[in-house]
Amino acid sequence: MTETLVKILFMPSGRRGSFPRGTPVLDAARSLGVDIDSVCGGRGLCGRCRIECMSGNFPKHGLISDTHHLSPFSATEARFEDKKGALPERHRLSCHANLIDDVVIDVPPESQVHRQIIRKETEHRDIRLNTATRLHYVEVETATLEDPRGEAQLLLDALRRDWDLDGLAIEPNVLPGLQQSLIKGQQAVTVAVYNSRDIIGIWPGLFETAWGVAIDVGSTSVAAHLCDLGTGEVLGTASIMNPQIRFGEDLMSRVSYIMMHPEGAAEMTQVIRRALNELFVELSEGAQGSVDNILEITLVANPIMHHILLGIDPVNLGGAPFALTTTEALELRARDLDLAIHRGGRVYVLPCIAGHVGADSAGVILAERPEQDLAMTLVIDVGTNAEIVLGNSERMLVCSTPTGPAFEGAQISCGQRATVGAIERVRINRDTLEPRFKVIGSDLWSDEPGFEDTLGTVGVTGICGSGIIEAVAEMFLAGIISAEGVINGALTDQTPHIFPSGRTYSFKLHTAATDGGHSDIVVTQNDVRQIQLAKAALYAGIKLLQDHMGNTKIDRIRLAGAFGSHISLSHAMVLGLIPDCPLENVSSAGNAAGMGARIALLDRDSRNHIETIVRWAERIETAVETRFQEYFVDAMAFPHHSDPFTHLFTAVAPPVIRNAAEKSDSPRRRRGRARQ
Ligand code: FES
Repeated sequence: MTETLVKILFMPSGRRGSFPRGTPVLDAARSLGVDIDSVCGGRGLCGRCRIECMSGNFPKHGLISDTHHLSPFSATEARFEDKKGALPERHRLSCHANLIDDVVIDVPPESQVHRQIIRKETEHRDIRLNTATRLHYVEVETATLEDPRGEAQLLLDALRRDWDLDGLAIEPNVLPGLQQSLIKGQQAVTVAVYNSRDIIGIWPGLFETAWGVAIDVGSTSVAAHLCDLGTGEVLGTASIMNPQIRFGEDLMSRVSYIMMHPEGAAEMTQVIRRALNELFVELSEGAQGSVDNILEITLVANPIMHHILLGIDPVNLGGAPFALTTTEALELRARDLDLAIHRGGRVYVLPCIAGHVGADSAGVILAERPEQDLAMTLVIDVGTNAEIVLGNSERMLVCSTPTGPAFEGAQISCGQRATVGAIERVRINRDTLEPRFKVIGSDLWSDEPGFEDTLGTVGVTGICGSGIIEAVAEMFLAGIISAEGVINGALTDQTPHIFPSGRTYSFKLHTAATDGGHSDIVVTQNDVRQIQLAKAALYAGIKLLQDHMGNTKIDRIRLAGAFGSHISLSHAMVLGLIPDCPLENVSSAGNAAGMGARIALLDRDSRNHIETIVRWAERIETAVETRFQEYFVDAMAFPHHSDPFTHLFTAVAPPVIRNAAEKSDSPRRRRGRARQ
């Protein structure tokens, strides 16, 4: 007698086949390679395998589908609904719905193992969910007098039988919990398997809460995203100031501290690890769970933060040849780093690229994927060092350049961090030279009614990185400073905002109230110089990469990090921080390093990918390049001594040319002072 075959079509994959009546939908899916999730192994417990049975005529596929073409709702499904709530209409557990007649089955995104996680950024592919840590439920045989196998072997045999998982090893420190889990779960347990290789967690019965944390350790702040490893959903985000700041504001001062205090490295390691543990508690409590639910961590950091966190002395990174202890990606046990997550938890650290180009840049590359197409993409992550990537699918170059802290508002006379009270936006009227500005904490411009009231007692306290960039760019566009960066003292007759200050001139943005306890906010000649030095270092690094690439055309510019998110991209180009490029092709990449850590957390294949890309990328060492000096000097001018900014000045009105500003500070004279 021949078996009756029924047809099944899975959407959205379009895979189809014929199976004997009575075949569970989940089995049909697996034999067709359709991606359906499961934690409980088809026992009707987890609900991950739910599908929707379509109703209607599908002439294109030659099928008529109906919910009655699947077996009646089973007792197991009814029990599942009692425990976890009703399934939506037409939805079934595919492990307990059997084929009766032809059907069209929709596999919703949440039931797909390798579902796409939508990234909000419009320019990017979504993340493919394919985590390194997976949960598997198994029922384990009971040990008997006749069977000499231990409980661990019985567990491994059950995993081989039910999940085709072979050659697994049980993490020694989770082994002691096996017996209790088996007793509590009446021989049923859920295990977490890392990289199809190690059992890193065991829980009694069905357990479905597996979390991971993607962390970006910056020198100023530390950001962490808590993600559900089952769904890819971000459950919470938290950030803190890097507590190492008390050892030094910037990276080099922390390295100096370690040089002068031999115990300093261990102290800094301890404070950053403690801070991460506090973040884990905050995130877990926010998601109504425990740090024991965190099974995996991915980490990105600049080389010095990377070394300190791993307990490696970073002193070698303080000077040439800036030797990293390792550039390789690392897989570690969380407990070996004193990170208080699940006792079997694992840590994946993205690879570093070079002495000043760290795992954070690897994260940026992973998020931005310049190697995906032929468009020549420039990605810049600005901190006290700017890490620069230039490349496309054919070649990729990376370097770092010492921009210093001016872009963060440091070494600026009225500079401050981007907090309430800081000027973050500036506009200067080209005719009257009257400035107006916006302050963090107020939605109003300074010349709008009620502005002062919105500031309360905080007042205007200083100017942050984005504010100083706009201020200097606006001063240049208004003709207050020359292309050489000199504040034009001849304009004192035209505006009270320009005033002498020693042998140079300053520009006053804001006059403080006499009783407010605040100072005037001014931009001094030295502030302009600091911005010139920082932007020239950045531009020179970019020029070097362009040189090595042999291609001066840049199709797309992406500015990563907090700096890139907050500055006005057109003002950055006016100053010549970045090369000329159509403005519509210049955009912020947000926290790309953190996004890279998140991608590495959710898609284990991305780890191999970034390790390969990092080996392939060519490092350019700016410190040994003789042309750096020349490029640096030429880049001191606004926007540049000789490079044309054609695209920029078709979109932005060119600067006002006023009476000749001081000529004595020409680029050639400054060449000798460059990079001091
Ligand atoms: Fe878990 Fe179907 S596989 S409910």
